[in-house]
Amino acid sequence: MRRAIVLGGTGVVGRAVAAWLRPRGWRVDLVARTPREPFPDVLVADRYDPAALRAVVGGGADLLVDCLCYTAAHASALLPLLTDVGAAVVLSARAVYVDDAGHHVNSDEPVSFAHPVTEQQPTVAASGGDDFQSRCGYAACKVAAEQVLLDSGLPVSVLRASKIHGAGSARPVSEVFVARALAGNAVLRLAHPGYADHLTAAANVAQLVDLVAAAPGARILNVADADVPSRAAAAGAVAAHLGHHWKVRDDPGGDQPSWGQPRPMVLDTAAARRLGFRPQRFARTIGTEIDWLAAAARSR
Ligand SMILES: NC(=O)c1ccc[n+]([C@@H]2O[C@H](COP(=O)([O-])OP(=O)(O)OC[C@H]3O[C@@H](n4cnc5c(N)ncnc54)[C@H](OP(=O)(O)O)[C@@H]3O)[C@@H](O)[C@H]2O)c1
Repeated sequence: MRRAIVLGGTGVVGRAVAAWLRPRGWRVDLVARTPREPFPDVLVADRYDPAALRAVVGGGADLLVDCLCYTAAHASALLPLLTDVGAAVVLSARAVYVDDAGHHVNSDEPVSFAHPVTEQQPTVAASGGDDFQSRCGYAACKVAAEQVLLDSGLPVSVLRASKIHGAGSARPVSEVFVARALAGNAVLRLAHPGYADHLTAAANVAQLVDLVAAAPGARILNVADADVPSRAAAAGAVAAHLGHHWKVRDDPGGDQPSWGQPRPMVLDTAAARRLGFRPQRFARTIGTEIDWLAAAARSR
């Protein structure tokens, strides 16, 4: 049986990777610091403790997915362990890209890209520091990590995702809509319903991880959904999934989802598609997150 290890495995990406690979015949070991429901069999280890990392990865695997590589130092710690790994995938983010004015998605000013963004788009300058938890440092540290990985010559695929949705998300994109629908609201007052974004279903990430496992290589790949939903369209998808009906009212003082811009940043996924990636649409994938949020609300 092929074996995959996911570092940071009980989050939104790890859950989706396990859900995708296990029915396809993989053993998937999820690594986190704390076992929690529904993951009683988690491998408990701190990704940033070199001995613990060696203990979980040192035995080798067919596939390693790292959701916790944020800096050049994190990448460097991983490299010696990849010699016995068939394919490695490291999560990165669209936040690395800069537009013509030098803005990125975490800038104070909105980004403006005239075209879908390919992997060749300029990025912020790399920073070898460890300031990855700040708005400013996140992308610079990610770029440095990517460079260490790709310069190694090892078969590491870097996946640049947009905002990821799915079960286990720390900041669910559908949260406000699910709460309103479960509350039975007949009217949804929504700020800027036409604002849109190109989001990334964790299930689409998992599909691409599977393709990379079958074709290991050193590369960067954008990963995102098949469509770019507006806030109104996303609200409609949530309502439809929950069998709810409401009237959406354009109200600048209404609910303000944490995503959506007048001019959305679109990721070009042609490189991933050349590997066979066939992303699903937002409305086809958001149900996983909705069901998880609804179950959590019910258990409260
Ligand atoms: N989520 C997004 O919207 C998004 C967008 C673009 C890119 N990304 C990239 O995706 C990756 C994050 O994946 P995710 O969103 O799935 O993460 P996540 O939902 O935040 O989950 C993080 C996971 O890592 C575990 N963890 C945290 N610190 C750990 C440590 N020191 N050692 C071992 N496990 C640890 C957590 O469980 P415990 O706390 O129990 O350890 C949890 O299972 C990052 O590389 C990020 O840059 C995410």
